[in-house]
Amino acid sequence: MPSLPQILRDQLATGPLPFAQVMALALYHPEHGYYGAGPRRIGRQGDFFTSVSVGPLFGKLLAIQAIQEWQTLGEPKDFTIIEQGAHDGQLAEDILNALEGRPLRYLIVEPNPRYREAQAKRLGDRVQWMENPTALQSGPQHGFFLCNELPDAFPVHLVRWNGTRWEELYVTEALQFVPGEFSCAELAEEAKHLPQDLAPGHTLEINLAMLHWIRDLAQAAFRGAIFIADYGLDAEEFFADTRSSGTLRRYKQHQMDGRVLEDLGECDLTTHINFTRLIEEATRHGLTQRDYDLQGRLLGRMAMPWLKSLEGQPLDAAVMRQFNSLTHPAFMGRSFRCLVLEKPSR
Ligand SMILES: C[S@@+](CC[C@H](N)C(=O)[O-])C[C@H]1O[C@@H](n2cnc3c(N)ncnc32)[C@H](O)[C@@H]1O
Repeated sequence: MPSLPQILRDQLATGPLPFAQVMALALYHPEHGYYGAGPRRIGRQGDFFTSVSVGPLFGKLLAIQAIQEWQTLGEPKDFTIIEQGAHDGQLAEDILNALEGRPLRYLIVEPNPRYREAQAKRLGDRVQWMENPTALQSGPQHGFFLCNELPDAFPVHLVRWNGTRWEELYVTEALQFVPGEFSCAELAEEAKHLPQDLAPGHTLEINLAMLHWIRDLAQAAFRGAIFIADYGLDAEEFFADTRSSGTLRRYKQHQMDGRVLEDLGECDLTTHINFTRLIEEATRHGLTQRDYDLQGRLLGRMAMPWLKSLEGQPLDAAVMRQFNSLTHPAFMGRSFRCLVLEKPSR
């Protein structure tokens, strides 16, 4: 089996590729992609932390929210918690453990068979699977969809302002960027809505996969809420002069840098979500915005019933440390944001 550099060289020998294709290979090649071969360790021994790796509290707060959503919908029998980007199943396990016997179903949207295997090992028959969100069009009818750090891991197109117009960035055989025409009409259309007054050389990402994904969710059969937690920015911050090299970064062993064409397959590649664009596309397709805020503030509000239930009890220092990591502005409270959308039935 050829290595990822060899596979890339073979593909690039026929001409430069849009960066999105290189990123898709680097992250999702089934043998050599960073996320391809199976779930890697996340947390202290991995390349980065997530709210899930902080500890089970994130799952507990989402379980409390799921119960509330279920009750608001009148406790329907088919109510299903739906998670996408479930990785090794840790968040699913934390949520299921915190449901305290409530009869809520759990469904994982997971395209990668190796991940399904790892999740099954941890979760057994407590969950079911489907391969992609389009399958949600046939049910369930009531649900609570959630994901943590999912669209930041979608392959993105890179575009650069040349002083007159936006151009797409391609990757050459020598692993260098070159500008070219847009590789698809959808990208050209998207670029029409980008600012035209930036300094020449300003580079940013267009996450078409995120737009397809939110449209798929809008088409799903279920009525209920959609909870999206990720790092991201509003449009104004996303297009700021100070971000002239965009938000694409690579992570390895808790070090972050912009050398995104080095060690492909060995590092995580990730971008910030343009939340303004995500909300715009969601509402265009019939979803409504219920809440959108810094993670610290939104999780703080979500945690109120749990915090009240702790009144008069001795504090568990480990759990309070988790709450602090998730919500304090110096940790994950400000860099992460949460968006809650409402979904009518289709
Ligand atoms: C940054 S990790 C986050 C993992 C986990 N949600 C957490 O917070 O610890 C991104 C995850 O998204 C998964 N992923 C990427 N694209 C996906 C897709 N289309 N469907 C399901 N999972 C996907 C990757 O395999 C990876 O497990």
